[in-house]
Amino acid sequence: MSATPDGKPTEALPWQGNVLASTDVKEYWYAVSTTAQLTADRPHPVRVLGEPLALFRDEKKVARAFADRCPHKNVKLSDGKMNKGTLECFYHGWTFDSTSGAVTKVPALPSDCQLPKQCVKTFPCIEKNDIIWVYPGNPANADPKKIHSRPIQTDYKKKGFWRNETVIDLPCDHSYFVENLMDIAHTPWAHDGCFNHRDDAVPLKPQFHMTPSGMHGFLEKVLNNGNPNSLEFEWTAPCTNEVIVRKTGHKDCIHLFFYSLPTAPGQMRHINITYMNILWFLQYIPRTLLPASQSDLAVIHGDTVAMMSQARNMKEGCPHITVATPSDEMAIKYRKWYSKAFGSSSDGEKGGPWWKGWDGKLDLEDLATSAMETCLPQFSRGVYERAAAGTNSSTDSEYIVEMWKVQQRRRKPLGFEKPSQWSSLSILLGIAVGAAAAVMVMKRNP
Ligand code: FES
Ligand SMILES: [Fe+2]
Repeated sequence: MSATPDGKPTEALPWQGNVLASTDVKEYWYAVSTTAQLTADRPHPVRVLGEPLALFRDEKKVARAFADRCPHKNVKLSDGKMNKGTLECFYHGWTFDSTSGAVTKVPALPSDCQLPKQCVKTFPCIEKNDIIWVYPGNPANADPKKIHSRPIQTDYKKKGFWRNETVIDLPCDHSYFVENLMDIAHTPWAHDGCFNHRDDAVPLKPQFHMTPSGMHGFLEKVLNNGNPNSLEFEWTAPCTNEVIVRKTGHKDCIHLFFYSLPTAPGQMRHINITYMNILWFLQYIPRTLLPASQSDLAVIHGDTVAMMSQARNMKEGCPHITVATPSDEMAIKYRKWYSKAFGSSSDGEKGGPWWKGWDGKLDLEDLATSAMETCLPQFSRGVYERAAAGTNSSTDSEYIVEMWKVQQRRRKPLGFEKPSQWSSLSILLGIAVGAAAAVMVMKRNP
């Protein structure tokens, strides 16, 4: 992890490092998905700072990002089909050049007409460390060297580590998750029984300092569970958090990366990549067979319940933190940075980066509503939202598992597929067997 060379804190805001020299949050590489999620057979929808994108792989399997709007009649391109590495709009079959976004085919166009000059807007897109990165700002500034990366991500196999990932869209503003990841004191309580236990809680006073790109901190001992675990953490503005858990005196280590992608107001995508050199057998067990309570989904559930109710109270006029303890200091620093960089607001959502470069075509309420098609709440069936808004309900952890499964489900391409030869044969065989059985029954009972 990086730190200031002299270890001295700097309070200068906004950060002057090469990551967030300006507060225009469009000028940043965002982790938007993972290699595993972006298969070659269909496009993958996501939003970045409200912008809807269709991610896909071209004929050379290179990751690409198009605006998710067909230049013909604005149908979502993410509903389209991949045809030999070419993205084909679902509605009228227009196709586009993967690099420039230019229209390459209009099936219904008479031969004496010219192809339309319109292009799909394209975004710089790079695959690195098994993550798909998109740059929503000025393409001329999209320097791949600025992509957030650590050595462990490139050589983890050589070092005897294995990798696990979770991607899930959540119904809360990304700033809550960033803040939550700086709040170590919640873990034995909100995650009691998952990976922490309330009986192991200890007093905490994290040591931390500002770095040119965020914050860096350390905790000597996190839990009183007999394991002398230390914790190192780093926040890289605006929305990347890392946590390293080490056992003192052992080479065991867990290095977690959290990318809290701001998809729309009140919506985020949580991408967690973990590298570890322990519990290696877990990588061979299908994720769906593992008990939810033992997976990071249970942890995300606890965080989501807390963040949703915080968001409700913030909307009703509460501050982020009313009374602070030393373990809240990092969260306070983060919130100060946030409001200085983006303007403050009581609900923690509208004060965000949404209008940094936002062209005002949609108002924020419309944006939050229109973002739901990829981000929620139909995936969660609104349970978290209802629980947060209600007075007497809580949310079962099974919902997060259901939500995750629904989001992972591979959608079939739109429309009906031609039945395969085998399915036609099996239908014919079924009819023949049925007819033979009917004849036999009739012969026995004339
Ligand atoms: S809307 Fe895409 S081809 Fe017509
Ligand atoms: Fe948590």
